Amino acid sequence: MTNTGQLTGLNGPKRIIIIGASGMIGSRLCALASDQDIPLIATCRSHPVEGCRLFDMAYDHLVQLAPTLGAGDVVYLLAANSDPNAVFREPDAARLLNVNATLRLAREAMAVGARVVFVSTEQVFDGAGGFCEDDMPKPQCLYAQQKVEVEQTLLAEHGDICIVRAGALVGDLPSDNCIVAKTYETLLKPEACMARDNVFTVTDVHDIANVLLLLSNPSQHRLYHVAAGPEVSRTVLADLVMEMSRYGSDMTYKTVNFADIPYAEPRGCVTWMKSKRIQDEFGYSFTPTPQVVRQKVQLLDDWRKAS
Ligand SMILES: NC(=O)c1ccc[n+]([C@@H]2O[C@H](COP(=O)([O-])OP(=O)(O)OC[C@H]3O[C@@H](n4cnc5c(N)ncnc54)[C@H](OP(=O)(O)O)[C@@H]3O)[C@@H](O)[C@H]2O)c1
Repeated sequence: MTNTGQLTGLNGPKRIIIIGASGMIGSRLCALASDQDIPLIATCRSHPVEGCRLFDMAYDHLVQLAPTLGAGDVVYLLAANSDPNAVFREPDAARLLNVNATLRLAREAMAVGARVVFVSTEQVFDGAGGFCEDDMPKPQCLYAQQKVEVEQTLLAEHGDICIVRAGALVGDLPSDNCIVAKTYETLLKPEACMARDNVFTVTDVHDIANVLLLLSNPSQHRLYHVAAGPEVSRTVLADLVMEMSRYGSDMTYKTVNFADIPYAEPRGCVTWMKSKRIQDEFGYSFTPTPQVVRQKVQLLDDWRKAS
């Protein structure tokens, strides 16, 4: 049975603060917290969003946002430049946000006794796949290296910290530019290429929102993986999309090796993780990948038909 992140029966947080609440994960976490009547401060940066306060983590301080921040509060650090291409193009600007500002806010929160939940990525890995929380990261791209730097710094510091590594997420809004949407769009273009040996996980964004809320409570560990199963390769994902879409006959691709794709910098090829701790500790069941893909493809088909 799926655990929906309901905090009933546990000592829920006094208040949660979501930095990056207008994003794909943050918007779902906000909705979930609101449904459970958890007091909430939510932030966005570039444009006003209902229910969010403008906050730029490059300059602003948590004390301005939440002057009474302290024990019982939980600060979710979701804001980041999470596009590896953009991080590679502008490494210094990305570092200011992804490393410097993230660590500064985490330290501000921990200094007053608040719990910090930082979201990292499956892309910290590369190798044989099936990575558990105890496995050593091997980040290939700069984005992943910045995530590992923050992870390691926070784990080395004392404070109430929780790090959550997420696989590729799938959202159910037209604005969610997720892995299924990107694959769907690519397959409709001529000369689409899919790598047979690029293997990763695909997870419903509502699952990570549920898990993040569960982790607002003190937990057994400081590091968790959040990834649905089974893992998929690019070609398997492409085949699922083609099979499930009513536009499947308009889609095609050429099978290639990951090494043939001309990325500007190295990327993790086999990154898929296992979420053993979340399952063991919370009994959490993820929406299986084929179901996540099917739901998204149906939405994409409907939006395509309507446009
Ligand atoms: N999406 C995935 O598949 C995935 C997978 C693994 C890990 N992650 C990680 O999970 C986290 C959240 O991902 P997401 O997909 O929800 O991100 P997203 O949709 O790109 O949202 C990013 C959020 O950060 C805010 N933000 C950007 N620059 C900021 C700044 N300087 N100061 C304050 N806020 C700023 C954005 O606000 P505006 O909207 O106002 O610009 C937005 O709310 C990221 O750390 C990402 O690396 C994501």
